Amino acid sequence: MSSNRAPKHQKRVSTAPFAAVASANAAVVAAPTGGGPQLVRGMRDVLPSEQAFWRRLYDASVQEFDVREFDRIETPILEEVSLFQRSIGKVTDVIEKEMYAFEDPGGARVALRPEATASVARAYIRHGMISLPQPVRVWYWGPMFRHDRPQAGRYRQFFQIGGEALGDQHPVIDAQLAGAAVAILRRVGLIPTMNINSTGCPVCRPKYIEQLVAYYRGRRSRLCEDCKRRLVRNPLRLLDCKEEQCTPLKEEAPQIVDSLCPECKEHFVRVLEYCDELEISYELTPSLVRGLDYYTKTVFELYLPNQEGRQDALGGGGRYDGLVELLGGRPTPAVGFSLGVDRIVNALKEKSAGEQSANGKGVKIFFAQLGEQARRQGLGIVERLRNDGIAVAEQFSKDGLKGQLERANRLGVLYTVILGQKEVLDGTLLIRDMEGGVQEIIDRKKVVEVLRKKLEGQQSVP
Ligand code: HAM
Repeated sequence: MSSNRAPKHQKRVSTAPFAAVASANAAVVAAPTGGGPQLVRGMRDVLPSEQAFWRRLYDASVQEFDVREFDRIETPILEEVSLFQRSIGKVTDVIEKEMYAFEDPGGARVALRPEATASVARAYIRHGMISLPQPVRVWYWGPMFRHDRPQAGRYRQFFQIGGEALGDQHPVIDAQLAGAAVAILRRVGLIPTMNINSTGCPVCRPKYIEQLVAYYRGRRSRLCEDCKRRLVRNPLRLLDCKEEQCTPLKEEAPQIVDSLCPECKEHFVRVLEYCDELEISYELTPSLVRGLDYYTKTVFELYLPNQEGRQDALGGGGRYDGLVELLGGRPTPAVGFSLGVDRIVNALKEKSAGEQSANGKGVKIFFAQLGEQARRQGLGIVERLRNDGIAVAEQFSKDGLKGQLERANRLGVLYTVILGQKEVLDGTLLIRDMEGGVQEIIDRKKVVEVLRKKLEGQQSVP
């Protein structure tokens, strides 16, 4: 098999996507303008203005995982350091440079999780999930920690959505997991493309690494300092190098797809065929090896195509057939993916810049009052509406009608309910249609019924 195979849905991926997003990110990492205590470097607050995007992505993930028979799993943020060292590999950036590892007050060596796949594998063994129908499909959403160099789209606390399927070696599962990752992104309106490769298995990978080392040894003097170290300690990582001086060497390096054993080759071909069936747009990427040592066979990363600038993956994943056994479980093939929530949210923000109203939750009713009596009676009315599940915005602490109507306009609500002095006296309410400006008077007792009817058939935002 050659890496030149032209897949049905192949799309050219720009070598430098993400410029537009980078500018959005710049705003995210910009120093807050107020004073007060400092944030720990690389940490950030997710402010109310961003929550609508987070919620949209979260809801889309829940919906996708629900229709694909995944169950939620929650693993601790704190795990033993050794779990990650054994899983991810000691000679990786994540373990060597980025892990928040420390001794807890009881003297145990613990770490803030840099990722969750190792924890899922641990939980699978610990809770005897091998006795459940296989594959066991689980998903998670939560914070991860890496002491990365903070920059646009790269934080020290970031969130991941992940899906893992343990206990099935069939290549169709690889394609289905990649498909689930793509489907989540599509559900929020992002159309990603996928870089894909096979990293072989313990049978074929050592032979490939020998070839790679032989190739690079002859060119050692042209390597960057990091790569000189990689050549000795973890040669596969040579293919990860982003330094300009190493790029030409990388392009000429032997490709692992040409060294795959028959089983890995067959597996990879079938994964690609299933991806075609699922209409996943992908590009064969011989240099893709990923930064975690547990992978075997399929690896993939997701990007937004046609964006200039920095190349930051929205997500990645692959097969890790040896991990459960490495951690002391029975041999259990597995495959999974994680998506970077923060980066996806940045992309969503960039995409909808200008479109998004201040009203992230899609509130359609504003309640405005005039005078103290109206304020008092209005409290009860708004409470009744909310108890009935109708979202209502208000500004009970304000007096003037003008300011309240301005806010209603800013929020883009459909109706404003007005309780003035006259309405207080005669037990009515005014309902103003914000689009047409038409006002109608209704009996106050019927407010829930009338508004519910008006809202029926309206689609929710966002
Ligand atoms: P990963 O490629 O290390 O894979 O991370 C997955 C995604 O998390 C990245 O593509 C990126 O979107 C996001 N991410 C990683 N580091 C940062 C950061 N410092 N700031 C913001 N976002 C970041 C894994 O973690 C594997 N556990 C994926 C997997 C699951 N493989 C199999 N199952």
